Amino acid sequence: MTNSTPLPPRDKKRLYVRSWGCQMNVYDSGRMADVLAPLGYQPVDAPEDADMVILNTCHIREKATEKLFSELGRLRLMKQEREAGGAGMVLAVAGCVAQAEGAEIVARAPYVDIVLGPQSYHKLPEMVARAGRAAGAVVETEFPVEEKFDHLPDAAAPQGVTAFLTIQEGCDKFCAFCVVPYTRGAEYSRPAAAVLAEARRMAAQGTRELTLLGQNVNAYHGEGPDGSEWGLARLLYALAEIPGIERLRYTTSHPRDMDDALIAAHRDLPAVMPFLHLPVQSGSDRVLQAMNRGHTAADYLKLVQRLRAARPDLALSTDIIAGHPGETEADHQATMELIRQVGFAQAFSFKYSPRPGTPAAGAPFHMDEATKDRRLQEVQALLRDQQAAFNASKAGETVEVLFTGAGRHPGQLSGRTPWLQPVHVAANSSRIGEVAPVRILKGHPNSLLGELLHATPLDREMNAA
Ligand code: SAH
Ligand code: SF4
Ligand code: F3S
Repeated sequence: MTNSTPLPPRDKKRLYVRSWGCQMNVYDSGRMADVLAPLGYQPVDAPEDADMVILNTCHIREKATEKLFSELGRLRLMKQEREAGGAGMVLAVAGCVAQAEGAEIVARAPYVDIVLGPQSYHKLPEMVARAGRAAGAVVETEFPVEEKFDHLPDAAAPQGVTAFLTIQEGCDKFCAFCVVPYTRGAEYSRPAAAVLAEARRMAAQGTRELTLLGQNVNAYHGEGPDGSEWGLARLLYALAEIPGIERLRYTTSHPRDMDDALIAAHRDLPAVMPFLHLPVQSGSDRVLQAMNRGHTAADYLKLVQRLRAARPDLALSTDIIAGHPGETEADHQATMELIRQVGFAQAFSFKYSPRPGTPAAGAPFHMDEATKDRRLQEVQALLRDQQAAFNASKAGETVEVLFTGAGRHPGQLSGRTPWLQPVHVAANSSRIGEVAPVRILKGHPNSLLGELLHATPLDREMNAA
């Protein structure tokens, strides 16, 4: 558990935001809290006794809607209890389920006050006011994404040592299985000047590691301060100049948009961390084609080779879908083979989940659940072994660790390696925000144990305490 936020004073209203899904939802949840702060709302850690609850939802795989309705059922009781006591609770559903199934939410959960899609968060204060007057739910699921970024305040509250910054939103790729182009809309890149200004502010407030976010982050093509178009590489060079920003990451990338300039940025910029999340989805060309990914397995392997030539210590992470419609046993084996050839340091793998309205959902040859389950298990066992081997390979090495917060045990801090591995180290809490060399003692399947190379008496004292 992290430290819990203290309860706000009585003149403040309590806001509870829960996020599911991708990191962009986490970033958006922060912006919603920022936009509500001037109205007197302060974030709390639990929905009990909250004046407002926002559920920021994800629609990427099925069951999301059912999970949402069971959560709403629980909140309905809390809302009724508060109302019986003369108080109220504004209940809002945001995110991709709100975008895709707004009408169903209004019909099935009439006690919900606000339904808002990802492009409408800047309208929250006005919607809260309208909800106070309206009888039914106030609904906003329009798509003008530029407006959202023009009107949202920049990150207000300090974001922490590691922080997310959304630079791009939406997707035009239309992979056959995916709902994102429908819930997040067309690809849009924020102007570079806005991104740089927000990054400068975050650095001044203590952020040391910045992760740039976008559903298709390496398709970034924002307007540069000089009016020309900037790609992601150009933006990374500019961000690396900001004092205080020591580490840069970006996610999620599409293999098709990894251009030469971006690969060169991995070679030239020490701030760009040697870790890249590059979803491949499948190792079979037939399936990749059915998925409309626009690349082959060989394209992916070649890309990995070029990346590793530019940055030899680069570690890769990926996403795999097991059991896409039409996937044969041979296709599945091709995926296993690609995983073996690349050797991933980390990965996310999913059982194919049909999403209404997507081309794959209507395609023939859906797998039975047992086959999908078995293939997923095989994929996961292999990926787990690779991750454990990668972590174990760091034992005995000295690596740069950015300390991010309290560790598992007293006297310990937790931090991150350049390869995004969590590390636990005995160290004084004054080191939070600092990068220091750490000798890795042991690599566990999900984390590392290390010791400071230059521990001071203060670091040891903390450990003894
Ligand atoms: N924009 C990112 C990821 C979006 S969703 C990208 O292009 O990689 C995150 C991951 O969820 C995807 O990479 C994919 O592996 C998985 N996913 C998306 N739709 C899915 C579906 N219908 N069933 C199973 N997994 C899915
Ligand atoms: Fe979805 Fe494909 Fe776009 Fe990623 S690139 S968000 S998987 S459609
Ligand atoms: Fe989920 Fe929407 Fe993100 S569907 S993964 S919250 S873009």
